[in-house]
Amino acid sequence: MEERQVSRWARRRVASHLLAGTINPRRARSAATVLYRALKGSAAQLSRASLQSIFPGIDQVEVRVRYSPDQGGGSLADVITLAQVVKYLECRRMFEIGTFRGYTTFHLALNAPSGSHVYTLDLAASAVPEAKLELTDLQLIQKPSSGEWFQNTECQPRITQLFGDSAAFDYSAYEGKMDFVFVDGAHSYEYAMADSLTARRLLTSGGIILWHDYPTYPGVWRCLEVLSREWPGSFVWVEGTALVAWKPA
Ligand SMILES: C[S@@+](CC[C@H](N)C(=O)[O-])C[C@H]1O[C@@H](n2cnc3c(N)ncnc32)[C@H](O)[C@@H]1O
Repeated sequence: MEERQVSRWARRRVASHLLAGTINPRRARSAATVLYRALKGSAAQLSRASLQSIFPGIDQVEVRVRYSPDQGGGSLADVITLAQVVKYLECRRMFEIGTFRGYTTFHLALNAPSGSHVYTLDLAASAVPEAKLELTDLQLIQKPSSGEWFQNTECQPRITQLFGDSAAFDYSAYEGKMDFVFVDGAHSYEYAMADSLTARRLLTSGGIILWHDYPTYPGVWRCLEVLSREWPGSFVWVEGTALVAWKPA
């Protein structure tokens, strides 16, 4: 990005941060927040379904969770759901776009069958000015470290940490090989769309893609509703979570 673009983008970030402060229930639990979220939920076009109706019997799948109050990432329901899916489907090769602290990465590795491997891609803080598309949540990128949740744990040998801009990364070594892709990088429409197209290229036949943050972020929301009209197969918003799953037809 050029200097002028960065400052315009930073102004937009400040404005959206202030707005998020008024609508994010973690920061404010006002009636307006509750109403806003309810309206968003009811305006969402993707059909909602329980995990059990998508994967019969998955409610019987027990998973391991290491709890931390500052897990950094989605809610516990989201992490447990992802862990159940990789265990239920016996995923062997998994790819995550957007590592953050690595809480989800750790739980994918912890719950997938032995011999499985997780690849997780994150944007280094120093690479922000060169980002190809519109970034979101600068505070999630400009952090002191990435993936600290799995470093020096029993899961680390089964995780490969990658760095790069998801819109510019060379995925050739991973294409067509992943049983499971989790899209959770930048949340602008442009990145959500680019990462979704990448995720589809990474999938092996019979693989599954899950996205985080529907309908929370407008960019992710719009992207998934466009894709649900264009891609064959079913898009489902998993009840009780901010996850959307796509199972190819
Ligand atoms: C919401 S956090 C991911 C949370 C993580 N998946 C979890 O469940 O704990 C978003 C992550 O995406 C990364 N990110 C943002 N833009 C990116 C880009 N263009 N390429 C790669 N990673 C990006 C950020 O650095 C941040 O770590």
